[in-house]
Amino acid sequence: LEASNNAYSDGGSVFKENEETQVKRSNFPSGFLFGTSTSAYQVEGAYLEDAKSLTNWDVFCHSVGCGENGENGDIADDHYHMFLRDIELMHSLGIQAYKFSISWARILPRGRFGKVNPAGIMFYNKIIDNLILKGIEPFVTIYHVEYPQELQDIYGSWLNPEMQEEFIYLAETCFKSFGDRVKYWITINEPKLLAEMAYGLGVFPPSRCSTPFGNCLHGNSDPKQGGSIGLAVNCKMYEPLTDSELDQQAAKRAFAFQTLDPIIFGEYPEEVKEYLGNDLPSFSLDEMNFMKNSIDFIGINHYSTTYAKDCTNSSCTATENRAIQGFVGTDGERDGVLIGEHTAVEGSYVVPRGMEEIVNLIKIRYNNKPMFITENGYSSPDVHEQRVDALINDVKRIEYHANYLASLAKSIREGADVHGYFAWSFLDSYEWLRGYDVRYGLHYVDRQTLTRTPKLSASWYRDFLTNNSGLI
Ligand code: NOJ
Repeated sequence: LEASNNAYSDGGSVFKENEETQVKRSNFPSGFLFGTSTSAYQVEGAYLEDAKSLTNWDVFCHSVGCGENGENGDIADDHYHMFLRDIELMHSLGIQAYKFSISWARILPRGRFGKVNPAGIMFYNKIIDNLILKGIEPFVTIYHVEYPQELQDIYGSWLNPEMQEEFIYLAETCFKSFGDRVKYWITINEPKLLAEMAYGLGVFPPSRCSTPFGNCLHGNSDPKQGGSIGLAVNCKMYEPLTDSELDQQAAKRAFAFQTLDPIIFGEYPEEVKEYLGNDLPSFSLDEMNFMKNSIDFIGINHYSTTYAKDCTNSSCTATENRAIQGFVGTDGERDGVLIGEHTAVEGSYVVPRGMEEIVNLIKIRYNNKPMFITENGYSSPDVHEQRVDALINDVKRIEYHANYLASLAKSIREGADVHGYFAWSFLDSYEWLRGYDVRYGLHYVDRQTLTRTPKLSASWYRDFLTNNSGLI
């Protein structure tokens, strides 16, 4: 990469030196882990190999067709066959941690109705062993969006408490098989988003429009296991649209709906109770005690900030009200000015200060419980809207990560107990309902050949990590 007067250009945007982009590796504590993240369905492919069963997403995408062009994760990035090269690529970036998920259908194709699949265990053993060989700490997500279709057919999915038993069995199988080497576990990725998409909006399978979980690691007495367990929550930052009391309350309400109160305090937040009233399922005393303080760290998936507007006492247009079904309106614009640059994903804006703000809110609410930024990343539209070289020269992604990291460093200076940061994503990959239409990767993946090409952002990350370089 060439430096030119501390600024470089991608033919439109210019990445200039300023205070925010001066962030350096040395601004973070020495034990702080920098990594990247992916999830099984989004990268693995090999959807029917080695006794893996069909997942709910395999079936869903095959039947309704996902993404604009009816795409699916059958092949995805073929990480199943290319994982060794991928780990090599990670190593060349100098990353110290990798967050990936276990495909439930690969290791327990029929849940508790069948046997553990040795080929699935072997696959993840190889990943884990090779990561460790390269000095990369595995962060394993036990459940990231998809699970065996058979469980959906039998139980109708998470609304049935039997699914909790299935999940416990899966978690125990993971702890037993990998717990001697995996020391960081994420039980569920983005539970609130899943609940909203699958059961609120009904756009994810099982498409219902209308449940608490994670303690076996703590109860585990095998001395070879042990480690930390957490949850990764989708945490957008909401700033009040105006100074009005109502909008300020709306922003607080929006935050409350994203919190982890049930698994830290054993109760739903007041704002949620007040808003949902009798519609909110209640916890028994046993459930409350079981859930209370059941995690060691909080995983934060943070991408964007929007304005929050009161829609309970004030009138909201359908557009304002679309994003969070009723309990708060959200918008990216105030007095005709956007809160930040719009990304390729609708309603998602680049607002680096949001990182510091959300980390501080979580720090205060949970008495500075250890945190990891388990996902943070920038989406660009796919090639049909841009040239490949523009996608590879992803100056905007560099700007995004550098500015968000600077904001994170600020919150750490102010005392937040944050232990790591994972860039989403290591590769361009399958993006749920959007198929391959948006790209978050530090590596460009050619959809025909599946060749990986490091983007400018990958080189930036490598320099940031290995040369303590703030600017290129
Ligand atoms: C959240 C999810 O964990 C991941 O699966 C998704 O691809 C990214 N964020 C980007 O939307």
